[in-house]
Amino acid sequence: MAESWVIMVTAQTPTNIAVIKYWGKRDEKLILPVNDSISVTLDPVHLCTTTTVAVSPSFALFRIGCGLMGRYQFSCVFPFFSREIRARACDVEDKERGIKISKKDWEKLHVHIASYNNFPTAAGLASSAAGFACLVFALAKLMNAKEDNSELSAIARQGSGSACRSLFGGFVKWKMGKVEDGSDSLAVQVVDEKHWDDLVIIIAVVSSRQKETSSTTGMRETVETSLLLQHRAKEIVPKRIIQMEEAIKNRDFASFAHLTCADSNQFHAVCLDTCPPIFYMNDTSHRIISCVEKWNRSVGTPQVAYTFDAGPNAVLIAHNRKAAAQLLQKLLFYFPPNSDTELNSYVLGDKSILKDAG
Ligand code: DP6
Repeated sequence: MAESWVIMVTAQTPTNIAVIKYWGKRDEKLILPVNDSISVTLDPVHLCTTTTVAVSPSFALFRIGCGLMGRYQFSCVFPFFSREIRARACDVEDKERGIKISKKDWEKLHVHIASYNNFPTAAGLASSAAGFACLVFALAKLMNAKEDNSELSAIARQGSGSACRSLFGGFVKWKMGKVEDGSDSLAVQVVDEKHWDDLVIIIAVVSSRQKETSSTTGMRETVETSLLLQHRAKEIVPKRIIQMEEAIKNRDFASFAHLTCADSNQFHAVCLDTCPPIFYMNDTSHRIISCVEKWNRSVGTPQVAYTFDAGPNAVLIAHNRKAAAQLLQKLLFYFPPNSDTELNSYVLGDKSILKDAG
């Protein structure tokens, strides 16, 4: 090997928002969930992580320079990710520069990582999903691992459960799997990003404060104490997954909205059923739900679906641009700028959308 070269790979991965939620692990170490979940991956322009991984014989140490992405989280998980990808690595050759890295060289080489999010981490929006998925993907490309994205998702899953779903665009299902070693607990694409591209996603940032109970801790307490979770995981979610896949494949917005809202509400009910109860939503979140419910009922057919993760911020999925524009008008009216309840909205799509209100 020549001594002065550097090989670099840069990857970009958006975050994803669950419409049928993952909440509860049956195996904490392997991160195996108690139920299947389905999510939508945001478009790559918004809320995404960019990660560059580089390798050179001149690097003496492993290094992380993580712009907005948590350095600590990365350092904890990197040894595992890198071991898994190294085990699948193939030879890498750059004939032009006279570089050849054989499979066994990966043991000796040190990797440098730089990663940043294109949104403020402090905004309280999911970032670990995109971050871990991106790191796994970038390492796999760097080491020329031939695994497909589903196989890589099983590695990303072990950084943070929801990360496994960010390896695909469009709608994605995380299959809980059956086997004990977790090898069948992986993500598969339900439909690609073009299938239902008139949906518009708006994130209303209700609070940018860090959540008081992390997902990992919250899930653990729910699994230990909530009877409702057991009913949800065994009786409710399996049926909902089938109905949700149907709704997505048929682009049936009424069913999609009904299932999305019901599943978000049940997830928060399960949090309340935890001992001690976990409160992720606040009064503003509740007011957003009422506003959407009233509007959907007044027009007869749902225009917008809402879903809330482990925090008070609302993810609003509008049927089309017109519905999104009308929603933004309503949000501005009910939560006016410079008031106590002012929202900081992220419109995931083109901002000229307001002119479509009609
Ligand atoms: C409410 O994936 O952050 O967003 O596996 O413990 O890292 P860990 O949890 P994480 O939990 C996400 C929970 C959720 C629902 C979801 O994304 O499905």
